[in-house]
Amino acid sequence: MRITTCLVALLLCSAALLLPGNVSAQVPEEPTFATDIAPILYRSCVNCHRPGQIAPMSLINYREVRPWARSIKNKVETRAMPPWHLDRRLGIQSFKNDPSLTDDEISTISSWVDNGAPQGNPADTPMPPEFAPADAWQIGEPDVVVTFPTYTVPAAGPDLFGDLFTEIGIEEDRYITSIQTRPVGDKAREVVHHALSYAVETDDAGDSMGGGLFLVEYASGKQAEIYPPDSGLLLPGGTQARLSYHLHSIGEETDANVELGINFLPKGTEPKHIRYSSQLGGSQGQTIGVLDVPAGEIARSDGYTRFNKAARITMFQPHMHMLGKYQCIEFIYPTQPVRAETVNCAGFDYNWHMNYNYADDAAPLIPAGTILHVTSWHDNSSANRGNIDPKNWVGSGGRTIDEMGFAWIGWTDLSDEEYEAEVAARAKARETDD
Ligand code: HEC
Repeated sequence: MRITTCLVALLLCSAALLLPGNVSAQVPEEPTFATDIAPILYRSCVNCHRPGQIAPMSLINYREVRPWARSIKNKVETRAMPPWHLDRRLGIQSFKNDPSLTDDEISTISSWVDNGAPQGNPADTPMPPEFAPADAWQIGEPDVVVTFPTYTVPAAGPDLFGDLFTEIGIEEDRYITSIQTRPVGDKAREVVHHALSYAVETDDAGDSMGGGLFLVEYASGKQAEIYPPDSGLLLPGGTQARLSYHLHSIGEETDANVELGINFLPKGTEPKHIRYSSQLGGSQGQTIGVLDVPAGEIARSDGYTRFNKAARITMFQPHMHMLGKYQCIEFIYPTQPVRAETVNCAGFDYNWHMNYNYADDAAPLIPAGTILHVTSWHDNSSANRGNIDPKNWVGSGGRTIDEMGFAWIGWTDLSDEEYEAEVAARAKARETDD
């Protein structure tokens, strides 16, 4: 136990020690807001730090930014902002949606603040990026919009869990290219804590059968899913949509209206690769993981899932609840002797459901028979500031105060030939780079 405790502490704390030491050539001598700081904020901060978004203050113009200068320095030096909890010291570091700052950018912000946070010449400030409204479709105007029945959340009460069903209205098999869940309106965004969408078969009477095929997850702060251009997710014809929701009260009665927007490949076309997304690596073979987190301790749990076919891994997203702190994914390859490789580790903060989408040329390629090993750490000690009750044992379950430990993994299947060809192409690309 001691070792695990140290490990987690080391992994969590040392990020703060990686403060920029050497000021390199990339760091301007006298940075100003107009020329040096605004471009960083516009790329990595203002998608949240602008009016109507989740962050507490807007950081678009100098007048808004200046009072926060010290706090900004602190948050970027400790890498608390922008939220990106991937451990930078090991594993793959090449992702599609990485907003994190380089060491040089952090140094630039630090020296700007230390110099009194000057504005520079206002005329040099670039135009802030333009944003679509908060509940706009990120996937373009969808081919189909599925509207779930309205659920009215009372002003106060316990967290609500359940299912809503509705027709999708697609009779033949189609392949999904992009999909997004969208609570409609600001209030709905506040009450919808979390929602999973599934496609379920219906019986002769039109009633839903079984849990269905997982389509997409919505959690506050989470983006739409846009699959790689040559892949698609099969939506069987005639299925219904099921929304498995987790709602919470916000002090006033609120209609939780949720829509599912879907874009398809043209009728009759099949993608080169079928895309999957699943909850994998829960301990003891259970989807959400069987967990035993003693009072006051840090507990480690391990789960394993075997890939029967070769695959390209496209996405990794740790999933735990309030006590979740850190998760690693590892592949155990079907070689003799067996070889294992840590792919990524990431810190975990329940307020942020971060998904890490691998860059195309870095997405892990695994041969058939590879085992995914997921390790999750839950911190039930009093040192965990998010822990409201370190005196109680915690186990697995669906409520926010219960725990879960698994990874959402996105992948596309490859044939053995495709796998060999992809591995060879990667090796060749590396040769030409050198
Ligand atoms: C994904 C959304 C998101 C991004 C991107 C983001 N922030 Fe934040 N930021 C938040 C939220 C939400 C909070 C308040 C909760 C918290 O502190 O975690 C916050 C809090 C802060 C605070 C502390 C405010 C306070 O009340 O003390 C600072 C400073 C800050 N952010 C700066 C930045 C900077 C600088 C960047 C870019 C380098 C950035 N943030 C990127 C969402 C974001």
